Amino acid sequence: MSASKTYLIFLGPPGSGKGTQSRMLQDKLGIPQISTGDLFRYNLKNKTELGLLAKRYMDAGELVPDEVTIRMVEERLSRSDCAHGAIFDGFPRNLHQAVALDEMLQDEGGVSLAPLLLVDDSEVIRRLSGRRVCRSCGAVYHVEFKPPKIDGVCDIDGGELYQRDDDKPETIKHRLYVYYRQTSPLVGYYFAKGLLAEINGNRPPDEVQQALIQTLAERHLLSETAT
Ligand code: AP5
Repeated sequence: MSASKTYLIFLGPPGSGKGTQSRMLQDKLGIPQISTGDLFRYNLKNKTELGLLAKRYMDAGELVPDEVTIRMVEERLSRSDCAHGAIFDGFPRNLHQAVALDEMLQDEGGVSLAPLLLVDDSEVIRRLSGRRVCRSCGAVYHVEFKPPKIDGVCDIDGGELYQRDDDKPETIKHRLYVYYRQTSPLVGYYFAKGLLAEINGNRPPDEVQQALIQTLAERHLLSETAT
């Protein structure tokens, strides 16, 4: 593994598997996943001011204002577990956030790679409408692709599984629209910097992970024998 810090930016539409893949990579790279969506949901669960503010935007499928999001990421990055880098899932989400992240990382070696998970819109809709999340530990399931052993119950801690409010059909459509309008320009942004890595995400999670590992190894960001 590279001795310098590693910062990965997962790009891809909602439901493309950014959370699934970045969680699978954490231990292999020894750096944490930072999911801005999870951070907002954590704040909402704890009824903080930030959580209540974010809820308005999340329920509508809109982006939470940049100022709030960037400040939250800065605080998260300053924690000790990010000493060797981080895997970003859901951040940056527009050009303004991407520039802010470049500034945050300017003394840290910058972004290492931006894997883009390519998944068809029809598959995105199937994945999001079938997603279920554990209310207590946050583990993610899918009614068809990754069902729990007992319907509606988390395999890990027995918690109740629920459907995210923004995984309802009308909100999914709007999130996709917001993705294509505001987030997809980041594909060009990272391509121009030579940091984009396109990954076919229309495959089972383990196959996507294997492709990612191979790509990271080719860029000297991970040993190819890591599993
Ligand atoms: P966020 O939580 O980041 O949602 P998202 O980006 O829309 O991504 P998702 O979590 O929906 O999908 P994913 O790509 O992680 O897929 P997953 O692995 O879960 O953001 C929510 C909201 O917060 C935003 O709309 C916005 O309001 C706000 N927000 C967040 N970040 C922000 C920012 N930076 N700025 C402003 N606002 C922000 O997989 C989905 C499902 O598919 C699961 O059920 C999974 O089991 C299944 N699955 C995964 N991979 C596969 C596979 N290969 N095959 C079959 N099934 C699969």
